[in-house]
Amino acid sequence: MEKLHKINKMKFAVSEKDQFMEETTPMNQYELPSPEKKPEYVKSNFDHIAKAYDRFNDWNSFFLHRSWKNWVVKEALKESSDPKIAVDLCCGTGDITARLSRVKSFQSVTGIDFSENMLSYAKTKLILDNRVKLQVGDAMNLKSLKNDSVDILTMGFGLRNVSDLKKCLSEIKRVLKPGGVFVNLDVGRVRPKFLKYFADFYFFKIVPIFGYLLYGSKHEMFDYLPHSAKSYPDQENLKKILEELGFHSVRFTNFVFGNAVGHVAKK
Ligand SMILES: C[S@@+](CC[C@H](N)C(=O)[O-])C[C@H]1O[C@@H](n2cnc3c(N)ncnc32)[C@H](O)[C@@H]1O
Repeated sequence: MEKLHKINKMKFAVSEKDQFMEETTPMNQYELPSPEKKPEYVKSNFDHIAKAYDRFNDWNSFFLHRSWKNWVVKEALKESSDPKIAVDLCCGTGDITARLSRVKSFQSVTGIDFSENMLSYAKTKLILDNRVKLQVGDAMNLKSLKNDSVDILTMGFGLRNVSDLKKCLSEIKRVLKPGGVFVNLDVGRVRPKFLKYFADFYFFKIVPIFGYLLYGSKHEMFDYLPHSAKSYPDQENLKKILEELGFHSVRFTNFVFGNAVGHVAKK
């Protein structure tokens, strides 16, 4: 009888833990900012951590983000015919902008971000001229871009940081030419489920420590970054959202069991 009780207790503990991990994974006390506070929170905190951002990416992805970013540009070129105008939204320190700038057939490559400090690091990777530019701008209000004016629009780890994902995607659709291509790289949901437990432990417990070490002290942005994935749609849902907004030929590719995901969508 006592044995049965013990087994039942164990079963309960496991199923309770399952639910806990899948739904919320609250591995520390960090709370995401509200949508109203998010833009200022994200902007000022990226300004603060800009100096550590590139090495943080290298460490937390075991340098893999570099090849995912190559993939972004490769897919964008594959889906376009004779593209001339490319925009890298939420360009941050300019990794994808720099890759786009190396495509000599582009007449114009523009990196846009609202964090001036992140852009100051992007400057060091680019030869800025009439063809390659950086702009301070808001991904949810692309004032500088006309309707139907862009052939290729890329975004790397930016979409989960905007406060209104659908508004941002609608802006992207507005500025793309008919037939233009959007390639988005961001985090995804890890499958199978048993791997998700390891991935969550890594992202919520280990990744912030890399950030603190590189930055030189504790900074909540390194907790925000993994937690921001929790309010971001999984790969299947993001595909659905893109289709609902009128994008077509939407597909996605998982990297490392869905830790990162690249979506390709056409207008
Ligand atoms: C995680 S970083 C990604 C940087 C770069 N794309 C990369 O892949 O390494 C996210 C960037 O998005 C920018 N960002 C977030 N929300 C934005 C918005 N509404 N408008 C413009 N930039 C935004 C941040 O300032 C930050 O530089």
